[in-house]
Amino acid sequence: MTSSNPLRNDELQAYWMPFTPNKAFKAKPRLLESAAGLYFTTDDGRQVIDGSSGLWCSALGHGHPKVTEAIREQAGKLDYSTAFGFGHRPAFELANVVADVMPGSLDHVFFTNSGSESVDTALKIAIAYHRLKGDASRTRLIGRFNGYHGVGFGGISVGGMVNNRKFFGSLLPGVDHMPFPYDPATMAFTNGQPETGAAYADELENLVKLHDASTIAAVIVEPVVGSAGVFIPPIGYLERLREITAKHGILLIFDEVITAFGRLGYASAAERFKVEPDIITTAKAINNGTVPMGAVIVQKRIYDTFMDETKGGVELFHGYTYSAHPLAVAAALATQKVFKEEGVYENVQTLEPHFGAAAHGLKTAKHVTDIRNLGFMSAFTVAQRDGVLGARANDVFLKAFEMGLKVRLSGDHIAIAPPLVSDKAHIDRIFNLFAETLAAVD
Ligand SMILES: Cc1ncc(COP(=O)(O)O)c(C=O)c1O
Repeated sequence: MTSSNPLRNDELQAYWMPFTPNKAFKAKPRLLESAAGLYFTTDDGRQVIDGSSGLWCSALGHGHPKVTEAIREQAGKLDYSTAFGFGHRPAFELANVVADVMPGSLDHVFFTNSGSESVDTALKIAIAYHRLKGDASRTRLIGRFNGYHGVGFGGISVGGMVNNRKFFGSLLPGVDHMPFPYDPATMAFTNGQPETGAAYADELENLVKLHDASTIAAVIVEPVVGSAGVFIPPIGYLERLREITAKHGILLIFDEVITAFGRLGYASAAERFKVEPDIITTAKAINNGTVPMGAVIVQKRIYDTFMDETKGGVELFHGYTYSAHPLAVAAALATQKVFKEEGVYENVQTLEPHFGAAAHGLKTAKHVTDIRNLGFMSAFTVAQRDGVLGARANDVFLKAFEMGLKVRLSGDHIAIAPPLVSDKAHIDRIFNLFAETLAAVD
C-alpha cells in the first residue's frame, strides 16, 4: 500500500541515521514500507528487489511465514526473560542446534544481540582464556587491514577500515594488523578463490617475531571479507593462518557474521574451507535478521577451561540484558529449521556456478574494473570519477534503487548478495537490472 502521507523534511530530522550521509538522505529520502519474499515495497509504491539480503541478513527473503509465526507465538508466551541466572528451554535448544551445525569441536554457544557484540565477546573470551590458563601476558590482538568487525571499541581496534577508526581516539592498546591478502594485478576478475596469494598469511610469522607469541592472544579475520567489498581468500591462505596460529598457541577467530548460515552454501565458512578456527562469531542470518541476535561459538576446550579453572560462581563476567532474548531465539529456531526443510544451503551450492557466471557476465560492462564472488556473495569495483573515492559507485547505488534494485555500497565497491532462496530467475533479474544500472550511469 502506498503511503498517502509522506514524511515532511522536519519530521526526518530527529532520527540520526547510522552509517548514512544524513543530510543527503534527508534531502531525498528512500523509505521502505513493507517487504515480502525478495521484494521491498517503497513508500511510493514501487517494488524493489533485494539484491543485498537486507544487510546480509535476510537469507530466507522477507516475511517467511514460519519465522513470522514463531515470533508471534513466542511474544504471546514469554516475551522476555533475563539470561542472568535464569534460562528458558528454547535457548538451550537453539544452542544445541547451532553447535550441531558448526564443525569439529566448536560446540558451546554464547548469545549476543549483534555482530559487534559477538566480536567483542570473542576477543574478551580469548584474552580471559589465556589468563585462566596461566598465560596472562597473552593480551595482544591481531586483525587485518580492511577488516570489518563491527563498531565496538574491540571491533574497530582489530578492524582495518580507516574511517571507522580515525575519529575515535587511540582505541585498544596492543593491537596489530596483517596485510590485506589481495593484489588486483593477479587476482582481478577471479571467479571464486584466487589461486595465488596464500603467502600473505606468512606475514603473521613476522608479527609473531616482532611481538613474540607469548604476548598474542588471538588473530581475527573474516574468512571472506564482506563489508570492505567482498574479497575472497586465496587458496591455502586460511589453512596457512590456521597452521601458524596453532603452532604458536594463538587462538584463531573467524568472524562469520556474514558468512555463517548459508552465504557460502554451508553453515559456516569454516566448513566450506575445511579450516577449523577456535572461535566463530555470527549474527545476521542466524534468525533471518528478524530480531537482533548474534552468537559466539567456541571450542570445547575453551569452554572447559572456564568451567575448570574458575573457583565457583560466575565463570565469565560478561553478558547482555538481551542475551538469548526469547523472540530472537524463537526466530532463530524457526529459521534454522527452514534452512534444513527447504534445502537452503543446497540451493546456494547448486546455483553458485550460475550466480558466478551471471556476475562475470558483466565483465565488460561500463565502469567495472573488478568482479569477485563466492557462494551467493559478489562485488563489483566501479572506476572512480575524477579520482573521488566512491563518487561514481554512490551514483550506481542510487540509480540501482531508482531502477528497482537494492544493492550494498562500500567505497568504490557494490556488493550483490541476494537471499539464499533466490532461484535462477531472481539471480538473472538482479544482474540484468545491475547491468542496466551501470549503463545508465556516467
Ligand atoms: C564480519 C562482520 N563482523 C561484525 C559485524 C557487525 O555486525 P553488527 O552490525 O550486527 O554489529 C559485521 C556487520 O556487517 C560484519 O560483517
